[in-house]
Order: sequence, then C-alpha cells, then structure tokens
Amino acid sequence: INPKRDYFMSNQKPNDPLFQSLNMGGLTLPNRVLMSPLTRSRSSQPGDIPNDMNAHYYQQRASAGLILSEATQISPQGKGYAFTPGIHSQEQINGWKKVTGAVHSVGGRIHMQLWHVGRISHPELQPDGNQPVAPSAIKPEGAKTFISADSGMVDVPEPRALETHEIAGIVEQYRQGALNAQKAGFDGVEVHAANGYLLDQFLKSGSNHRTDEYGGSLENRLRLPLMVIQAVIDVWGKDKVGVRISPTGSFNAMYDNNPTETFGTFAKHLNDLGIAYLEVVEDSFQGNHANGRPEEVIEAIRAVYKGTYIANGAYTAKEARTRISEGRCDLVTFGRPFIANPDLPERFRENAPLNEWDDSTFYGGGEHGYTDYPTLEELETIA
Ligand code: PHB
Repeated sequence: INPKRDYFMSNQKPNDPLFQSLNMGGLTLPNRVLMSPLTRSRSSQPGDIPNDMNAHYYQQRASAGLILSEATQISPQGKGYAFTPGIHSQEQINGWKKVTGAVHSVGGRIHMQLWHVGRISHPELQPDGNQPVAPSAIKPEGAKTFISADSGMVDVPEPRALETHEIAGIVEQYRQGALNAQKAGFDGVEVHAANGYLLDQFLKSGSNHRTDEYGGSLENRLRLPLMVIQAVIDVWGKDKVGVRISPTGSFNAMYDNNPTETFGTFAKHLNDLGIAYLEVVEDSFQGNHANGRPEEVIEAIRAVYKGTYIANGAYTAKEARTRISEGRCDLVTFGRPFIANPDLPERFRENAPLNEWDDSTFYGGGEHGYTDYPTLEELETIA
C-alpha cells in the first residue's frame, strides 16, 4: 500500500457539474463521480476475507466522490457466489479495516454495501449444504451462480420459502452486518435492495407470493425491506444509510407487475425515513432488458423522494453532466469505467481518453485486470 496524493479533496472545477462538491449526511463529497458496488470475487480463502490486494485496489480508486464497496455478505446464509467477501467474522472485519484504512489514508470515503442474496445461491455455498432461502419457493429461471473454481457457473436451484418466524432473524443479520461495518471503519452503509437479491425478491411481485404479512399486498411486500432499513438506521443513524434499488431490472429473473407503483411507494417511505441517499439502477444490470418504462418509474420516484438521488446505469461523463444539470440526479455511480480507470474522476475532469475494460478479468483471479490498470500519470511515464 502506497499512501500518496492528497489532492483528492481539492479536485473541484468551476462550471463542470461533475466537479461540484456535495454534502451528504455530514460527508463532503468532492465530486459527483462515484464508484459503483462491483463484485470482483477476490477475497482470501478460506473465510472470504478482504486482503492487502483488495485494499490496494480500493485505495487506487479513492478519488471517487464516494466508493461503494462490492456487495458483501452479512451472514453465511447471505452468500451466493464463491470468493465474494463477508462481514460476519472477526477476520473479515480485520480485513475490511485494511481497506477502509487504505482509502482514508489518501483522503477517500467508502460505504459498505450490505448483501443477502436470498435465492441466488446454491447448497454448496450454504451452511450445512442447506437450500437457499427466499420469500417464496420460486426458482429464478435462467439465473446462475458461481460455486467454485472447478464447477464454475451453475443453475440456481429452487429455494425454500422463509417461515414467518425466521423474518426477525433476517433483520438481525442486517443489524449485525451494519454493526460489523461500523467496527471495520466504514463511513456509512448501503442496503442492497436491487438486482434480484433477497430484499428485491421481497419487493417485487414476481418473486414474492407470500400470504403472511410479508407478501401479497404492496404494503406487505415493502415490510421486510423497511424493517431492515430501520434496523440499519438504528445502528448508523439515518444520515449514514443509503439504499440501492433496481425498479425495472430483470437480471436474476426478476419481474414486478407495476414497478412505478411499487417503487414510487417504496421511495415515499424512504423519503419519510430520511436516509442519506437513494441509488437507482435505472436500466438493468449489464443491459438486461428492462421491465417497465424506466423514465416513468424514475419520475415517480423523483416526485416523492427529496433526498440525494444517485443514478446508475452505463452513464457516460457527458450524460452524467447533462442529467445533473437538469436536476434529474445529484450524483452518478460508474461501474465498469471505474474497473478500468482507477483515476476516473481525473480523466473526466481532463476529458482524457479512458482505458478499456477487460470483462474476462471482472470476477476472480489476482492483480491482473484488478490493480494493474494504469493511471493517466502512469501512461505518460510509459510514453
Ligand atoms: C454478481 O456478483 O454478479 C452481482 C452482484 C451484485 C449485484 C449484481 C451482480 O448487484
């Protein structure tokens, strides 16, 4: 780990919407170029423990207005892919301390994304080889997960519906994850309620056919996600808690019969809770076709949610500037461009060309395709 540059807090640029600072829950973000939560599947084994290489990767990207950590399992049951990190053991907390320390040492800011995958898992990844859990016993057709280096990607099997008496335990997993993230030195947390994982499975009509108070009506489908967010707020305070949603996403076999109503109503509740921000996956994860009309859903959310709005979805710098100027969003998260460009804000600021990403190194492996993408400065040295 190489603590260097301290210019991160001073990278403002007059007249560029991406380089105006923003105060969010007491945290001053120096720019509007945020790093998306990105699964990279490079934790140390056994134990799914963040390591020095992971700390270096995040430190390289610390000029982001805010880093959102890769999705991180809050419990053994919340795990859905081999090599993804957790935040439920002391070793994992210690590993994440290296990450937050590395980011803070160069002036950066980082939230942890709290993750329970629900049905997107496999008995081989679950404690005691158990069936993965979900709101309802509905198999996500076509969804796959990565179970081991040998077996690779496999179909996700049919999950088991959670019993009503197990719901309190789910909330407790999130509360403990939030507490552990605090111990690990994060600046805040993001509750992952997107992309077909547990909370999204509860929110959307296609995956939640429950007949108890956690399913059926819209109010019932929102109940567990709101209980979880309240529990996380109880740990962190509302100013330090964000939520990620993907209203029209179809990734992981997701479907909702009325995303405008579902997510407009959810956003109204989130507004009343006063969370720090709402991050919206506006298209669909990696270009999976949308279910519903994104613009209509975004407008419904914007009409009721008055807090900080973070847009996500294959934005270019130009589109991000336009959307911020028009007041359609406050901040933008960038995923794949941040994988390939550790100094992405500087590149946007200078309108410099971008390194291209190599999708064969997104998941798993070592330094290659992870910490070896050059900065502009390094490219100039080579040239
Ligand atoms: C993935 O590991 O494929 C993954 C994780 C979290 C997401 C989306 C995809 O939100």
